[in-house]
Amino acid sequence: MSQQLEKVKELIALREQARIGGGEKAIEGQHAKGKFTARERINMLLDEGSFEEFDMFVKHRCYNFGMEKKTFLGDGVVTGCGTIAGRLVYVFAQDFTVIGGSLSETLAMKICKVMDQAMKVGAPVIGLNDSGGARIQEGVNALAGYAEIFQRNILASGVVPQISAILGPCAGGAVYSPALTDFNIMAEGTSYMFLTGPAVVKTVLGEDVTQEQLGGASVHASKSGVAHFTGKNDEEVIATIRNLMAYLPQNNMEEPPYVPTNDPIDRKEDFLNEIIPDNANEPYDMYEVINSIVDDGQFLEVHKDYAKNLIVGFAHFGGTSVGIVANQPKAMAGVLDSNSSRKGARFVRFCDAFNIPIVTLVDVPGFLPGTQQEYGGVILHGAKLLYAYGEATVPKVTVTLRKSYGGSHIVMSCKQLRGDMNYAWPTANIAVMGADGAVNVLYAKEIKAEEDPAKKAEIAAAKKKEYDDLFSNPYNAAKYGYIDDVIEPRNTRFRIIRALEQLATKKLTNPAKKHDNLPL
Ligand code: HXC
Repeated sequence: MSQQLEKVKELIALREQARIGGGEKAIEGQHAKGKFTARERINMLLDEGSFEEFDMFVKHRCYNFGMEKKTFLGDGVVTGCGTIAGRLVYVFAQDFTVIGGSLSETLAMKICKVMDQAMKVGAPVIGLNDSGGARIQEGVNALAGYAEIFQRNILASGVVPQISAILGPCAGGAVYSPALTDFNIMAEGTSYMFLTGPAVVKTVLGEDVTQEQLGGASVHASKSGVAHFTGKNDEEVIATIRNLMAYLPQNNMEEPPYVPTNDPIDRKEDFLNEIIPDNANEPYDMYEVINSIVDDGQFLEVHKDYAKNLIVGFAHFGGTSVGIVANQPKAMAGVLDSNSSRKGARFVRFCDAFNIPIVTLVDVPGFLPGTQQEYGGVILHGAKLLYAYGEATVPKVTVTLRKSYGGSHIVMSCKQLRGDMNYAWPTANIAVMGADGAVNVLYAKEIKAEEDPAKKAEIAAAKKKEYDDLFSNPYNAAKYGYIDDVIEPRNTRFRIIRALEQLATKKLTNPAKKHDNLPL
């Protein structure tokens, strides 16, 4: 055998060795937990045969605690690039089979390399997290490694999409890299995220709590809002990432991909002409509206189980990727509160950063009143949503279906917040408040002064009618040009698509500044 052939064989053997990560036993352990290995996950994520691996031969440089005898080719993370539906992405997948995927200096260096490369070429970064956190034997070098990653997350924010899958433990400061990215997708039952684990919670607070209760997928999807999506297992999480990518551009200088559809752009939905109940306090399901107007009924909801009174997510209209923000009358009557405002603001800012037009469907009675909301800072949180809409320069199409009252009317992409096309259904009520509230404020004394109960009711009803005639319709706002047109509900899909076509070349910039000072 020639020397060259020997060297080639050595290379092949080394590659084989790298590919088994922490070894067969560790791989079995990973499978026994219902999890896939880093390489299996990358194979699921990327188009077949597209993966180009980097840094397969990197080893850690730690000599503490006998670590020099515990080295693995690749050192606990598989990194590289490949394609999803033919589009380039950069990826890192922590390999739990190698020292628990714990983060060493060199492991961090590998992750930083793919992030730097992604920024150079303008492609998304996808991180598949499954790690015991900072490699304890490496001390501050591991911490420095995390900090290097965080710094890159920050600089990449708003430049390239960053997506984090949480497919195992994610503890300590390690949760901050996913938190800095655009989307967190957690696997149910096998992943968790928390700053301090159950043992520390017990010591400091005396509370007994399991990992799942403290930071499992359902907790972060429904209570904290840290997780944007969950999946039943690794496969479902990875399928969600691939699905999500169909709505996102490669970077902030590009448009999202056009997704061809056979769904007619002028498809009418007659049931929409009758969906609004006669009783203004009766709910209807905003999902029915959304699903009926988007291409092929396909709606990828973000934060499905968190702050359900505001629906946010991605869809296509005539092939164009769009972010939808919609009040949900079926949840807390569609009122805005702190959580829904934060959820909406984050989503609107993401869409704006990545050139994704925003379609807003409005049916909002107002902001939720009360001490709980006020003490929790609803003023600041509501301001975030207001700010997000006001700063957004992407095309903004608003459709008011029913209620649009007071501050919440302004916040939900009104004309003066640079709404480009603001439509209303004939059932829209655009006013400072609803008729009952208005009559109570304006005529309380007059009604109280009347002693005869029948006359009291008569005055209240007359005043209410006067208010309704004046304000409980879309035409008062349309009279001032605050509504561009009152549309037939069944034509909503067509009108939105035509507005988006009209706005496709929209150019709008904000004043130059170092950065804004969003009310955090
Ligand atoms: C070094 C680690 C490690 C770590 C796990 N391992 N975490 N080695 N540093 N942080 C090693 C284990 O020793 C073991 O090695 C192998 O990985 C698999 O771990 P197991 O414990 O056997 O697995 P499992 O039972 O599934 O438990 C997983 C785990 C647990 C829950 C993640 O390992 C754990 O609690 N690890 C420590 C978590 C932690 O406190 N990390 C630091 C967080 S603070 P062997 O050789 O036996 O196979 C932090 C600071 C970041 O991350 C700051 C950023 C700003």
